[in-house]
Amino acid sequence: MKVLLTGGAGYIGSHTFLSLLDSGHQAAILDNFSNGSRVVIDRLAELSGSPVRLYETDIRDAEGLGAALDDYAPDCVIHLAGLKAVSESVSYPLAYYDNNVVAAHTLLQEMSRRNIKKIVFSSTAAVYGAPQALPLSTNHPTNPVNPYGASKLMVERMIQDLVVADPDWSAVLLRYFNPVGAHSSGRIGESPNGIPNNLVPYVAMVAVGALKQVHVFGNDFETPDGTGLRDYIHVSDLARGHVAALEALSAGRAEIFNLGTGKGRSVLDVIQAYEKACNRKIPYEIKDRRPGDVGVVYADVSKAAEVLKWKALHDIEDMCRDSWNWQRLNPRGYQ
Ligand SMILES: NC(=O)c1ccc[n+]([C@@H]2O[C@H](COP(=O)([O-])OP(=O)(O)OC[C@H]3O[C@@H](n4cnc5c(N)ncnc54)[C@H](O)[C@@H]3O)[C@@H](O)[C@H]2O)c1
Repeated sequence: MKVLLTGGAGYIGSHTFLSLLDSGHQAAILDNFSNGSRVVIDRLAELSGSPVRLYETDIRDAEGLGAALDDYAPDCVIHLAGLKAVSESVSYPLAYYDNNVVAAHTLLQEMSRRNIKKIVFSSTAAVYGAPQALPLSTNHPTNPVNPYGASKLMVERMIQDLVVADPDWSAVLLRYFNPVGAHSSGRIGESPNGIPNNLVPYVAMVAVGALKQVHVFGNDFETPDGTGLRDYIHVSDLARGHVAALEALSAGRAEIFNLGTGKGRSVLDVIQAYEKACNRKIPYEIKDRRPGDVGVVYADVSKAAEVLKWKALHDIEDMCRDSWNWQRLNPRGYQ
């Protein structure tokens, strides 16, 4: 299939680009580089052994987007472009609704106009809100507790409504859990701007000495060691999930899948696995819980296993090993 990746210069998009090529698909990248780096494009060319087809535009710019769709004429769009930081979304909700919801609306409209009616959408476990039952299945009620999760749920809904209205559309909505790790080459990985929001990139920066210690928020959750449990998934497994999703596109359907490992790992598990990977001590300090933090979140991945024939292959040790390999080779990320 010929696939256009919006947000393809980002963390998950860059890994997905390589997985698509590995599986015999063709792929091009569309990105505005608001959070992606041009260095990624060079590295993808180096890793794939061929030049990368790139469209530099913002998806909210209907003209620029339309020109890219006309020029590349993809069979399918994997829509990864968007903003992703929960706490930032609380401070700047309009930016999130604009870049996630308005942008998706423009994308769907421009795709419709050109009769491109296949989409795979990057959604998130944040659409569920606080778990009422675990593991979180795709039938769990959705009740996002921040603008980020709400913006993703709105896009899911928009796509579902479109598929009902026009059964020529087909869609797969992928709810990612906690993507971590990096490509095994150490050439591409996660390169956050400033202080990372997520645990593993934060631990990675402590490991290289760029930050002093990890703050562990809460050790009184109902978990074996008291620290919060999350479902971490290797970004390369996640990337393969997108390839599997392409096979599952089916006219008139918008299928939802969780992509995770189905296992919860605690903050201290992650720190220990990282210490093993980098062979040094990771200092940490226990802090109070943050308001709204949930103790345990992990996915029910049975639907992805049954329908997509996909499952995560990497464990937390692999994730920390590959994260460390990336971090030690690129201590300042892509900068
Ligand atoms: N990383 C995670 O923890 C996580 C978890 C769940 C869901 N997601 C979702 O997965 C997607 C990819 O995440 P990521 O971690 O690769 O993020 P990322 O920030 O690394 O990549 C997103 C890319 O989209 C580009 N972009 C943003 N707005 C754009 C616009 N309006 N037009 C064109 N390009 C634009 C950015 O420049 C960036 O390269 C996002 O939609 C995110 O919400 C991420």
